This record gives sequence, structure tokens and C-alpha cells, in this order.
Amino acid sequence: MTVLTQSNSPDELEFSPRRQSFDLEAALGSDWHGGSAFRTAWFNAMSLVFPLGEKCFIDTVCHFQDQIDDPRLQGEIASFRAQEATHRVQHQKYNELLCALRNYDLVRFEKNERERMAWAYRELTARRRLAGTVASEHLTAIMANDMLSKQDVLIGADSQIARLWAWHGVEETEHKAVAFDVFIAVGGTVSERRQALLMNTFFFFKDTFRNTCIMLQNDGKLWSLREWASGFKFLFIKPGVLRRVFPAWLRFFGKNFHPWQVDNRDLVKKWELQQDVAPTADKPAGNI
Ligand SMILES: [Fe+2]
Ligand SMILES: [Fe+2]
Repeated sequence: MTVLTQSNSPDELEFSPRRQSFDLEAALGSDWHGGSAFRTAWFNAMSLVFPLGEKCFIDTVCHFQDQIDDPRLQGEIASFRAQEATHRVQHQKYNELLCALRNYDLVRFEKNERERMAWAYRELTARRRLAGTVASEHLTAIMANDMLSKQDVLIGADSQIARLWAWHGVEETEHKAVAFDVFIAVGGTVSERRQALLMNTFFFFKDTFRNTCIMLQNDGKLWSLREWASGFKFLFIKPGVLRRVFPAWLRFFGKNFHPWQVDNRDLVKKWELQQDVAPTADKPAGNI
């Protein structure tokens, strides 16, 4: 019997979720990113979109699981699901604690995203929703690559919160191609994923920007020119997070794009050495 190869990950790649705990309480109530209201609000705003988004990622990928014949890709789907589920739990804790400590309204933050998800489940086909996940996974993977390789995005941040972001970035790197490979295996087209990246980039930044503004308003800093100038500098000049990821964002539009064309597994190894956390090789992909 011929075993179909549907996974296009590097041969030696194995990944599974790591058990982590973070002491967020000490810092989340303050401007934990170097005292900057904008940078703190920006990262908090990104955290706020993850629990709902990652639930959708899991659902869309697992919807097609019975169409996957390659046991390797099946194992990667199981590991992907387990990693994203762990991320959801940690970011949900983060978000609830943040809102409790700073008197924010979590329901208000999640309202737009929740309504859009409901629309997507009502109006889009399962494959279109999967294309959305593929696009979102590209966004998280390129931002994780930038954060882990440049090591300057979280300078000045609280060490526990920075540790959470780095851990999340490492696991996003490991599973960056799972949704993509499932999408290709079930006949997803270049045009579907291109459209999805345009749409999901727009909505990801719309939600993040909206929630950043709500937080700055709550903190009485929405009209602070100084905050906006420093925020603009952070995003577009130095370190220029969004400017730097733009070329990687564009590569997704290539006809033959695959996430592992950029092999950045060294970033995962480097992080493991820095953290002195053993890779979870005792639980190879698929044995979750
Ligand atoms: Fe994640
Ligand atoms: Fe992910």
C-alpha cells in the first residue's frame, strides 16, 4: 500500500505542547512593557484576539482531519491542536487577569471578533475558513520569527510576560505549516489563500488597533501625542516590527509558497537552550 505524503515539514521536525506557567499578576496591572502605555496596550490587544482566534484555528483544521491519509500530517494535526489549546488557556488567563487588574471590559474587547466568527461560520465554506486559518498562521509565524530572531521587540518588558510571548512564538514556529499542508491536501487554491491573507490581515490589525485605542482611552492616554509618536516609532521605525515583517508577509502571495521555505528551526533550539527547558521529545508528534 502506498502511504500518501501530505506533510511538507522538514523530516526531523517533531513538536508537542510544553507545560508552562507564568506569574502574570505582578506586572499585568501596570505598563509592563518598559513603562510604555502604547507598547503595553499593543501587546495586550494582541493577546485579546488569541482565545477566540485559536479556537477557530483548531476547529477549521480538525474539520478536515478525516480527509488526511498521511500519518505524519495526522500526528502534526494532533500536536497543532494541543499546542493551540494550551495557548488559548494561557491567553484566556492573561486576558481575564488583565481586565480584572485594569478594570477593562473583556466582553467589549471580544465583541467584534465574536460577531465576525459567527458570520464566517454562517456564510463561508469550511475550506474558506481553513484558508483564513492558513493566513492567520502566516501572520503569527512571521511575527514570531521577527521576535525570536531579532530579540529586540520585548526589551524592557516584564520578564514573565516576555517569557509567555516567546514561548508562544516558539510553538507558532514549530506548527507554522500544519494548517497550510492540510489546506493543500484538501484542494485549497492559491487564490483562496491570497484573498484570506488580505482579509485576515485587515481584521487582525483592525481588532488590535481598536483594542489598543480602548485601553489607551481607559487609561486617559488616547490623545497623548507622545504615546502615539512612540507607538508609530515602535511599529514602523525602530525596531519597526510591522515594517520588518512586510517582506515575509508578501512572500505568502507567491504561487509556490510554503512556510518551511524559511527554515528557522534554529530559533526553537536557541530558545530551548536559553530557557533550559528540555524539548518534549518524550511526546513525539501525534502522541498527545
Ligand atoms: Fe497559538
Ligand atoms: Fe498557531
